[in-house]
Amino acid sequence: RLLIIDFGSQVTQLIARRLRELNVYCEIHPYQNVTDAFLAEFAPKAIIFSGGPDSVTREGSPRPPQSAYELGVPILGICYGQQVMMQDLGGEVHGGKISGGGGTAEFGRAFVTPQGALPLLDGWFMGGKEQVWMSHGDHVAELAPGFKVYGTSPNAPFAITADANRKFYAVQFHPEVHHTPNGGKLYENFVRAAGFSGDWTMDAYREQAIAAIREQVGDKKVICALSGGVDSSVAAALLHEAIGDQLTCVFVDHGLLRLNEAEEVVAMFRDNMNLSVIHAQEQELFLGELDGVSDPETKRKIIGRLFIDVFQKYANQIAGAEFLAQGTLYPDVIESVSFSGGPSVTIKSHHNVGGLPEKMGLKLVEPLRELFKDEVRELGRELGLPASFIGRHPFPGPGLAIRCPGEITRDKLEILRKADAVYIDQIRRHGLYDDIWQAFVAILPVRTVGVMGDGRTYDFACALRAVTSVDGMTADYYPFSHDFLGETATRIINEVPGINRVTYDITSKPPGTIEWE
Ligand code: XMP
Repeated sequence: RLLIIDFGSQVTQLIARRLRELNVYCEIHPYQNVTDAFLAEFAPKAIIFSGGPDSVTREGSPRPPQSAYELGVPILGICYGQQVMMQDLGGEVHGGKISGGGGTAEFGRAFVTPQGALPLLDGWFMGGKEQVWMSHGDHVAELAPGFKVYGTSPNAPFAITADANRKFYAVQFHPEVHHTPNGGKLYENFVRAAGFSGDWTMDAYREQAIAAIREQVGDKKVICALSGGVDSSVAAALLHEAIGDQLTCVFVDHGLLRLNEAEEVVAMFRDNMNLSVIHAQEQELFLGELDGVSDPETKRKIIGRLFIDVFQKYANQIAGAEFLAQGTLYPDVIESVSFSGGPSVTIKSHHNVGGLPEKMGLKLVEPLRELFKDEVRELGRELGLPASFIGRHPFPGPGLAIRCPGEITRDKLEILRKADAVYIDQIRRHGLYDDIWQAFVAILPVRTVGVMGDGRTYDFACALRAVTSVDGMTADYYPFSHDFLGETATRIINEVPGINRVTYDITSKPPGTIEWE
């Protein structure tokens, strides 16, 4: 196994992700815990020193134990990790502001050019140079004995350094981030040099996560807000496998769900997977409070507040619950990846249950904290969740309320549910569901005139939305064919009483958002 010593970088988890992609098992441990005894016991096959916000020029800054260098295993130092390695092994590091010594503070994109061959760089520099992401205040001013330079950038003469004999590699930039497009190759070469065969899988992750949950929770009870979305579903399935009946899920039905959604979710978890699920039927409460409300933010606030009240009410019925499980993912943890930021991460609580743990005196269990969305899906498959669940489009916590601009009425919700079901059915029939990040219908707060048969109609207009996206942060509209759009409009108007006009929303994000509110 591989050990990542975390010196507090905001992107340490990305290193772990790169390694998981290579099917290499790794563990991240904060530098404070990595002692000589820890290292001896862990017996890593290779070590990575992460980046970090501190400066090695500061007295008392974080260090690995000296024995790390004596294990005879390959080490890769990144940014702060490079500087630590250089200083520990007899080189010199200067603060960024100091001129001379050949380097300055540097943040952002840079291009590295090669200087001599190194197996670590196989597959690099095919175009003569390589784009990398720099983020450092300090820089190496003098190499440690045994080290040579293998790549330079205009501001970083020691961008890539190595002692090839000892297999110690130290780079100034961050190969783990997206903006170092070929960074994965560097990790691949590193783990190959360390002799990893790359046979570790998500199945192993599952075992490990289960052991960790059991250790954290012991024999205590856990409650979980189940939404039917991928994250909370996978978290619930994993917890159930780990602690069985100690888990109770609360599914809050706010009356703003899609056609048959509540029944399907409850049936799957309760009947198929044998989870204990409380179906909180609170439609009246939510729709009552939303009555007459048309301002989008007011809608969201009402739903958020009621959700907490309701969840709390049902959770209080579960005697002795000490933990609250959440499907927080890694991108939620690094709310904003600020390369120059401090050592602590900001946690963005799930909008639905934010604030709950403190209010209820519950401790958090977040078994997906280290994973990215696609990894959560893979874990879900391992856990036996049906493919139809795992591949589901995202659905917002406030549900159909934000797809019903203007006042929400039961009639409009009913029409919206039917139209949405026809639209999604069309998308599935045409085999487009998995190409689309998210698709839904919004019912517009206007009625328009139409003619059907010999009669006049005066019914609602709706808008179809379908977008492609990677993370929901930016999005583009999906380029349906005109045939598809025409056929879908016809079906919706024929099959859904109350709608007589269909439009297609072709706004990208930005400037639009994905949802209408
Ligand atoms: P927007 O509309 O901001 O949406 O472009 C981006 C993504 O986030 C989802 N979304 C939400 N998800 N609670 C959620 O859990 C919310 O309050 C919420 N608002 C938007 C939206 O469906 C899209 O996938």
